[in-house]
Amino acid sequence: MQAPQLISKRLLLRAIQPDDNKAILAYRSDAETNQYQGWIPKTLSDVDAFIEKIPTVFNQADTWFQLVIVEKDSQQLIGDMGIHFIDEDQVELGCTLIKTVHNKGYASEAMREVINHMFSQLNKHRIIASIDPANTASIKLVERLGFRKEAHFVESICSNGQWVDDVVYAVLKREWK
Ligand SMILES: CC(C)(COP(=O)(O)OP(=O)(O)OC[C@H]1O[C@@H](n2cnc3c(N)ncnc32)[C@H](O)[C@@H]1OP(=O)(O)O)[C@@H](O)C(=O)NCCC(=O)NCCS
Repeated sequence: MQAPQLISKRLLLRAIQPDDNKAILAYRSDAETNQYQGWIPKTLSDVDAFIEKIPTVFNQADTWFQLVIVEKDSQQLIGDMGIHFIDEDQVELGCTLIKTVHNKGYASEAMREVINHMFSQLNKHRIIASIDPANTASIKLVERLGFRKEAHFVESICSNGQWVDDVVYAVLKREWK
């Protein structure tokens, strides 16, 4: 299956491409904004290697796919959405935006669009997010979307050499509005 092109009011989401590398490096290398992320690239080759590993097929169990988020008005690449197809029925999402567009509702809009697609087009059963509890913007994002908190694991992930907690949020297809 090919990755869909998703269009919302202000955004367009499409499959990542090799020549997105510079735009991705520009915001993903911002170590402060991305302090809760496991992957912080330092060079263009880091991003190229990341893009190369992404499968060509969308919706394949046990893979991570990456969509990029484009602002329709400016045509600027402003972020990305990681989609972890855990198995046939369950998906994990992670959203990253360039700092200059935070607090405009773009992450909520992009997540909503992807979740709608996952439930209505791909008939997924459950969507989760795995978040460092210190990442308050991400916690607010999933709570705003109606995810339920399901678990708080203590020092369960070693991220950049440090053991950190992990909270898991989820929403089921029958709960999604
Ligand atoms: C996680 C992340 C994407 C969230 O971004 P965000 O800007 O906080 O979330 P949104 O884009 O949905 O914006 C929501 C805010 O915009 C405000 N807003 C302003 N205009 C708005 C509009 N037109 N529509 C909706 N909301 C709007 C909302 O009120 C909300 O602010 P509040 O939280 O003070 O109520 C961002 O913090 C990020 O990229 N972090 C770094 C990467 C990261 O850690 N990702 C998580 C991986 S698990």
